[in-house]
Amino acid sequence: MTTLIDGIGLLYTGDPEREEIADAALVLEDGLIAWVGPAFEAPAADTRVDVAGRGVIPGYVDSHAHLVFAGDRTAEFKARMSGRPYTGGGIRTTVAATRQAGYPELAARARGLVNEMLAQGTTTVEIKSGYGLSVEDERRSLEIASGLTDETTFLGAHVVPAGMDADSYVRLVAGEMLDACAPYAKWVDVFCERGAFDGDQTREILAAGLKAGLGARVHANQLGEGPGVRIACELGAASADHCTHLTTADVDALASSGTVATLLPGAEFSTRSPYPDARRLIDAGVTVALATDCNPGSSFTSSMAFCLALAVREMRMTPLEAIRAATYGGARALRRTDVGWLRRGARADLVVLDAPSYVHLAYRPGVPLVHQVFHHGLLL
Ligand code: NIG
Ligand code: FE
Repeated sequence: MTTLIDGIGLLYTGDPEREEIADAALVLEDGLIAWVGPAFEAPAADTRVDVAGRGVIPGYVDSHAHLVFAGDRTAEFKARMSGRPYTGGGIRTTVAATRQAGYPELAARARGLVNEMLAQGTTTVEIKSGYGLSVEDERRSLEIASGLTDETTFLGAHVVPAGMDADSYVRLVAGEMLDACAPYAKWVDVFCERGAFDGDQTREILAAGLKAGLGARVHANQLGEGPGVRIACELGAASADHCTHLTTADVDALASSGTVATLLPGAEFSTRSPYPDARRLIDAGVTVALATDCNPGSSFTSSMAFCLALAVREMRMTPLEAIRAATYGGARALRRTDVGWLRRGARADLVVLDAPSYVHLAYRPGVPLVHQVFHHGLLL
């Protein structure tokens, strides 16, 4: 059964070999992309959908999100918007609420956020634990996450929970907690930041995760300069996330490694902080991803389009660089080749926009521009 999507205004493919095609068409077959090209060359198919000049993009790949939590941090947000700084200390508020919540409530909330994302065109999402911070609470967070995505990340090292000393907690995370969580996780992550985990602790936990067969990713250089980015590059992490405060050595390390810089402008927006300098990274040859960081504290948005508009306006990215980072870049950050682009053999995950091209995502910020979402070749 083949479906021809015809009448595409501008197709952004995400495929570096042929990124944009005007007056394009796509053929979907068995949940995959079977053909991509200009409409006048399109082969015949069993059914035809005419999108009447609308733009098409790959489904967004949101490579950084914290969706398993309970509770609310409205009060903290209000305080920040009246001038209080963000410190990350509020994570413990969410930990308390998450531990209190039952499994069905936590699972339903996470599923609700995944569905909210899907409706906005996000067809691949990474989900972290990190609001449990005990062996059982982290394990159950990851069990919930693994029911929603293949991209699950063990973030036991989010902060040291109340009532524990840092050394014993690091031992617990790298030992018993990792053992309980690894069967549900693809990745291990550490919040490497003053007030969370230092360089040595980060290395120890990432090394344990790598030994257990997980891939590494790091929350790095969000609130200030520090060793996170360099450790991520040294250990071959898939991605260093935030990258807001970078030295020249950090930029060089990223440029000469396979580590993607994942920028999360929703966090700077919601914490009223200066944005990372995407231009500096791109000009140095670093692969950049954009993600939402969806979480109740620092960035409670599930909208990739919003992040893309922020990246264009505030981070000196061009509209093309921003859509690339939100699709192809996210896939690189998750080391995936089956999503993030529309090329033969890739998953048929795509968004038909209510606009002629992806440029409108930043040009018309805040406007819902999702006309249709296809996920695994099926219309939502
Ligand atoms: O990526 N930086 C650490 N973790 C989250 C924030 C979590 C929170 O404030 O609840 C982040 O911004
Ligand atoms: Fe985060």
